[in-house]
Amino acid sequence: MALENKLGITDSAELAREEEKISKKKALWLFESGTLDSLKAGTFAALQEIHKCLFEELYDFAGKIRTVNLAKGNFRFAPVMYLEAALGNIEKMPQSTYDEIIEKYVEMNVAHPFREGNGRSTRIWLDHILKMEIGKVVDWSKVDKEDYLLAMERSPIKDVEIKVLLKEALTDEVDSREVYMKGIDHSYYYEGYTTYKIEEL
Ligand SMILES: Nc1ncnc2c1ncn2[C@@H]1O[C@H](COP(=O)(O)OP(=O)(O)OP(=O)(O)O)[C@@H](O)[C@H]1O
Ligand SMILES: [Mg+2]
Repeated sequence: MALENKLGITDSAELAREEEKISKKKALWLFESGTLDSLKAGTFAALQEIHKCLFEELYDFAGKIRTVNLAKGNFRFAPVMYLEAALGNIEKMPQSTYDEIIEKYVEMNVAHPFREGNGRSTRIWLDHILKMEIGKVVDWSKVDKEDYLLAMERSPIKDVEIKVLLKEALTDEVDSREVYMKGIDHSYYYEGYTTYKIEEL
């Protein structure tokens, strides 16, 4: 029932609770240790490092590119066959303006490189780019979760909604640990919306 994990947990609600506790502890460490600041903004290596840090106590796949095809709702994320090439191209996308950064974020979401935990790790990756490039971050407490999900579902077709939504929530408080932690707090995972359609290869 629950995703296979290092803790041997079989109940998905219990796994969600442990995951919340551990990933938040690790996210805070990433911030306070200066590790996040040392990463090269906008690279796949940076995202991999973030994902690995958040989830390595829980999953063998932490920081590793997924080996199954994934879909959510009616949307199929990048097929495993093209994933590495896609990640190389996304990394090369420009990131000097707000619009460019959101376009890059949207493409990284379409890639969805990991088996689970893409939302949380990619929001931290996005904030890291925004902070380094334009000196702002998203205050996720100002972003309604339903609006965010609708805008992300729509984003592969049209990115105007996610651009408007996140722009309204930008803040200069780039060094605030409270603001930083709201990105991971903004998760649906903890509320149980976890289902993916999986195609085993
Ligand atoms: N139908 C969809 N089309 C495109 N993107 C989607 C769709 N549904 C969800 N997403 C994106 O996928 C993310 C969730 O991915 P995943 O479940 O791997 O990460 P998570 O960390 O567990 O979730 P969360 O974002 O709730 O913290 C969402 O944050 C959203 O950006
Ligand atoms: Mg999830």
